[in-house]
Amino acid sequence: MTQDAGSIRFILNETEVALSDIAPTATLLDYLRLDRRLTGTKEGCAEGDCGACTVLVGRLVDGELIYESVNACIRFTGSLNATHVVTVEHLAAKDGTLHPVQQAMVDHHGSQCGFCTPGFVMSLYGLWLSNDAPSPADIEKALQGNLCRCTGYEPIVKAAEAVARARPSVVFDPILKVRASITARLQQLKTTDTISLTSGEDRLIVPGTLSALADILAEHPTATIVAGSTDVGLWVTKQFRRINPVVFINGLDELQTIRETADGLTIGAGVSYSMAFAKIAAAYPVFGNLIDRIGGEQVRNMGTIGGNVANGSPIGDSPPPLIALEATVTLRSKDGARTLPLEAFYIEYGKQDRRPGEFVESVFVPRMPETERLAVYKISKRRDEDISALCGAFRIAVAGDGKVTSARIAFGGMAGTPKRAANVEAALIGKDWNEATVISAQNAFDADYQPLTDWRATAAYRQLAAKNLLMRFYLETGGESVQLRRFEGVA
Ligand SMILES: Cc1cc2nc3c(=O)[nH]c(=O)nc-3n(C[C@H](O)[C@H](O)[C@H](O)COP(=O)(O)OP(=O)(O)OC[C@H]3O[C@@H](n4cnc5c(N)ncnc54)[C@H](O)[C@@H]3O)c2cc1C
Ligand code: FES
Ligand code: FES
Repeated sequence: MTQDAGSIRFILNETEVALSDIAPTATLLDYLRLDRRLTGTKEGCAEGDCGACTVLVGRLVDGELIYESVNACIRFTGSLNATHVVTVEHLAAKDGTLHPVQQAMVDHHGSQCGFCTPGFVMSLYGLWLSNDAPSPADIEKALQGNLCRCTGYEPIVKAAEAVARARPSVVFDPILKVRASITARLQQLKTTDTISLTSGEDRLIVPGTLSALADILAEHPTATIVAGSTDVGLWVTKQFRRINPVVFINGLDELQTIRETADGLTIGAGVSYSMAFAKIAAAYPVFGNLIDRIGGEQVRNMGTIGGNVANGSPIGDSPPPLIALEATVTLRSKDGARTLPLEAFYIEYGKQDRRPGEFVESVFVPRMPETERLAVYKISKRRDEDISALCGAFRIAVAGDGKVTSARIAFGGMAGTPKRAANVEAALIGKDWNEATVISAQNAFDADYQPLTDWRATAAYRQLAAKNLLMRFYLETGGESVQLRRFEGVA
């Protein structure tokens, strides 16, 4: 049985903290508000949607200190070892002078009832720290995970623009001048030793290395692995599930690598959406666009592709494009590693091919030949921060004679698992890539999928939308002449 060892050590604003008795499911938000009385951080939704609880977490990535906005409501305190947690209380100077980001919110009337304001301030502060000259799109992206019911976003966007312009004249900031000392302190707090703590009947384990993780999972095969906690956090805050023991893997550098070779990208299971974005968007721009629509910035800073894949949700967004791109998943345990096509990982609803003691180590995404076309369409009720009703990925190769030589189509939201549209693919391959083929292939969706009706969409809507997406893909890949012909027909 794993023995108690170590403690969770991090820096909270200026103070170093060491916790040795914390429940594995204790949230950072409760710790801040209840234990530390830092009540500037608010609780709105407790599910990562509203951003009222936004704080910054600084961590070392390849030795460099980066600060990211996160949702304290679904971030577990046990996941914070060797980090710097920055709350809104840390921003103003000791004499009460507001930080320029806060002052800009005042100057531009960015607050009314004020409940959302600390969260907005922290998201803007995260942007201000990482981006000298944010574009309107950068500002929108940074605020995607913050909701305001009263002010309207324009004054807040204006505050963000103003504070970026005023940046060179800033004399006071609690982080900029102490980056080197914070980096040194975090390096000291980082450990390759396993931290293991009991709290009542519960146990929290933070492995220091990948091999320690494999040993721990061999000993505790039913343990809950937690990476970014953007799924697991809600099991706790919304479903009140008791999970025990909990193994935190977010601090494992060995899982945080993203390797690019001539063959493709190998994405470590611990790589967050934010960290993966640049490389994925460069290789597959449409996949990058999809990542920008997963949660808000805070969720993308915490959530991992590994967690999305391992969770096996039929409405997870990354499996459809990954399956269309012929991705493979590598699972590791104490006994070694095995690699399988991602589509084979999904057995049925709630059941993945993950054996006791195994964890997802990485996902490999092969390069797609330049002659092939890829599209990913996410259908949800809101553009931002919404879960898909359905998400479809289409990949096709068309030969010089206009015939389809290969097709890989995968959907989320259409079955109990992310699933390929094998019948639609068969109806396309070998045929001319034209409207008649597409119309005939649309019928094959009925053989591939029998979707459910739920609060996101009816079965009929899903089926029709999937069929229409195939037509959209055709129009977008058919070239201007095809599109013009159709639009003229409609007119
Ligand atoms: C506000 C909000 C918006 C969201 N929007 C979207 C969205 O638009 N699209 C979308 O697809 N998802 C969305 N999600 C869900 C979530 O962000 C993703 O599924 C995310 O990728 C989960 O990754 P994680 O690291 O947070 O996983 P965790 O919550 O840590 O874990 C998820 C599951 O995977 C398991 N797991 C994690 N890592 C491993 C591993 N290495 N090996 C084995 N098992 C592992 C865990 O045990 C758990 O079962 C949203 C969540 C929130 C809170
Ligand atoms: S309280 Fe709403 S995102 Fe955390
Ligand atoms: S100012 Fe009231 S919710 Fe934003």
